[in-house]
Amino acid sequence: MKKQQARRIIDIHSHALPFVDDGSVDVNASLAIIEEYRRQGVNSAILTPHYRGKFKLPVSEIKEEFKVFCDRVIKDCGEDIDLYLGQEIFAGADVNEVVEQGLALSLANSKYVLVEFDYALEEDISEKVYELSYRGYIPIVAHIERYVYADIDMAIAIKQAGGLIQVNANSVVGRDGKTFKKKVNQLLKLGLVDFVASDVHDGRVLSMEKAYKHIQKKFGEKVCEDVFYNNAKKIIEG
Ligand SMILES: [Fe+2]
Repeated sequence: MKKQQARRIIDIHSHALPFVDDGSVDVNASLAIIEEYRRQGVNSAILTPHYRGKFKLPVSEIKEEFKVFCDRVIKDCGEDIDLYLGQEIFAGADVNEVVEQGLALSLANSKYVLVEFDYALEEDISEKVYELSYRGYIPIVAHIERYVYADIDMAIAIKQAGGLIQVNANSVVGRDGKTFKKKVNQLLKLGLVDFVASDVHDGRVLSMEKAYKHIQKKFGEKVCEDVFYNNAKKIIEG
């Protein structure tokens, strides 16, 4: 196994847990993602299976799969990567109840919840963010660049409503197209990005290392450490 890079990166959005959603087809695919994490310097990851549509497994089942997978990772890859559990929760009309009743998991047993929105159906994301925030949670809007209707003003409104913003590493480096890259870099320039995460699925390229280098070069070490590590560390520490 190749040596781990000395970079400090925590991935807060990952579909590397097998058998629970559309992320990873089997254990070997998941272990390949873990190996790639190690190669790119990702020291910790919060595994965030979907709570959306047909992917609404009971949390007890997800926790069981997580436990089995963690044991396998330690056996095959050692203990130099820390794994935590959470979910990427679709923010439908019932999102407040889903979170409050524990039907889906917050990130690493904290008050932070990763929420995603409809790509096409336009809505004011800040309203749902405010509702969750009012209930004592800290909502993190997943891959904001993917919602074409979410412009800079909406991003500012999300922050004012108590939310945080995550963008995908693949968008940072342009792997998901020029439009996403332009939007993400604009958000970074304005200091509106809190987390860069992978949203990795089996079959998608992991660009954490490349995104790290891009942000380091363009926005400096402090921004880089904040969006890849410091802000995520607060989640893990509760
Ligand atoms: Fe995702």
